[in-house]
Amino acid sequence: MTALSRRALLTAGSLAAAGLAGCDGIIASGGANNSAQGSAGSLLKSKLDLPGRFQAPLPIPPVLKPVRTDGTTDYYEITQKVAQAEILPGVSTTVWGYNGIFPGPTVVSQAGRRTVVTHRNELPVPVSVHLHGGKVAPEHDGYPTDLIMGTGPHSGHSGRMTTGPRDYVYGLDQPAATLWYHDHRMDFTGPQVYRGLAGFHLIRDDLEESLGLPDGDRDIPLMITDRAFEADGGFRYPSVDPSLANTPGVTSDYVSGVLGDCILVNGAPWPVLEVAAARYRFRILNASNARRYELSLDEGATFVQIGSDLGLLERPVRRKTIEIAQAERYDVIVDFSGFPPGRQITMRNGHGRGGTADVMRFVVTRTASDDSRIPDKLAAREQLSPDQAVAERQIVFARGGGEKNGMTLWTVNGKPFTEDYIVARPKLGTVEKWTVRALNVEHPFHIHLAGFQILNSAQQGWKDTVNLDNGGKAELLVKFAGYRGKYVLHCHNLEHEDMMMMANFEVV
Ligand code: C2O
Ligand code: CU
Repeated sequence: MTALSRRALLTAGSLAAAGLAGCDGIIASGGANNSAQGSAGSLLKSKLDLPGRFQAPLPIPPVLKPVRTDGTTDYYEITQKVAQAEILPGVSTTVWGYNGIFPGPTVVSQAGRRTVVTHRNELPVPVSVHLHGGKVAPEHDGYPTDLIMGTGPHSGHSGRMTTGPRDYVYGLDQPAATLWYHDHRMDFTGPQVYRGLAGFHLIRDDLEESLGLPDGDRDIPLMITDRAFEADGGFRYPSVDPSLANTPGVTSDYVSGVLGDCILVNGAPWPVLEVAAARYRFRILNASNARRYELSLDEGATFVQIGSDLGLLERPVRRKTIEIAQAERYDVIVDFSGFPPGRQITMRNGHGRGGTADVMRFVVTRTASDDSRIPDKLAAREQLSPDQAVAERQIVFARGGGEKNGMTLWTVNGKPFTEDYIVARPKLGTVEKWTVRALNVEHPFHIHLAGFQILNSAQQGWKDTVNLDNGGKAELLVKFAGYRGKYVLHCHNLEHEDMMMMANFEVV
């Protein structure tokens, strides 16, 4: 879509939102309280002074070591707990973290080997762990009501409840890719991810290894999030019930999404990374609840995209800007070799204003040798064609179709999520053509288990998440492979997801 027609749609979106404002104050893109173009949601402002930009060094999440390994499997352990972090200088922030850190530790799996992650939950609330982008059996997929119980009281749960440690077994019969793991608790995913429950899970394979891409300390994951802070340094989030024990949801001004005013990359505000004048690989993930970014680099630097959500592209694609919705991943190479030491290259967000228009900075500090390459041919990936589709379906993400605690819900095909309602029953091993549409505001569509390719789009490769502009649609070829069973699809605006914009599908 051209920039012009997108803007026209955004305007239509704010008009539609204005029409709805009477019920409970929905504010959509372009709305008066919204400072982020292209993101559904309302801005939440920090109650303390935010630090200057490009001061904090970029943290790199530690790679988790297996506790044991055998012929076929690597075993890991993670404890989810409350901890203190110094995110803003001199300020202590309470986080809920995997091993007490935000982002959580990075898990690195080798394709074809099994990975078992044992999660312990020392948080006061129930959790569910989802490996986003993973080809995982349904009982290990982090279904929203398949919970590991917490240490505190809570109510209103109906699914399977585990007390004590819980093993998640990942077959990972899939190519090298940048996945991430995050909380998926029914009704409370938004606030629990916001408090810090998100980390990278990379899959590597021999093909990727053979390409000669930048690696080692020149292969860096970048998790971009936005947050707001309370005066006492805590994360600020408009939960109806801040204990997250019983009542789900956010206050009425934020039902379209929560947008923070402080951009964090790997948990640091507007950080800076010192780089050599060489090629770097950045695995960019937008782990924000509601914010979308249009990333660019100044000083004439560009991104060379080598991978999408589910792994390498066939060929590299040069991009001046990257439009990245929540949960999408862009695997890119940035070549700093043309820059002299001392040069600063800033990553900006074309959808932001003020502080949210900046993301992070790179400073070239030294020359270095570089034997990395960007081959013209990256990976031979299966190309789906529309004639393979054995069924066609329509999925509509919109507002209305039910109420909860006096608030209008977000729905899929007019129905709020229930454990029983199944929107589609695709057959294992088949390809279907799905037309997914968004009404009222933007919605990033995400489906578990199944990868897809987007028809008629500049976005290439295998994906699990696609942004839909307000009023927009995407035509997807979706391949259902790996496992039979019940999984979810949902909007990855986490406030929408928590207000029921989710549905089951069952692979039969
Ligand atoms: Cu990233 Cu169902 O989630
Ligand atoms: Cu949505």
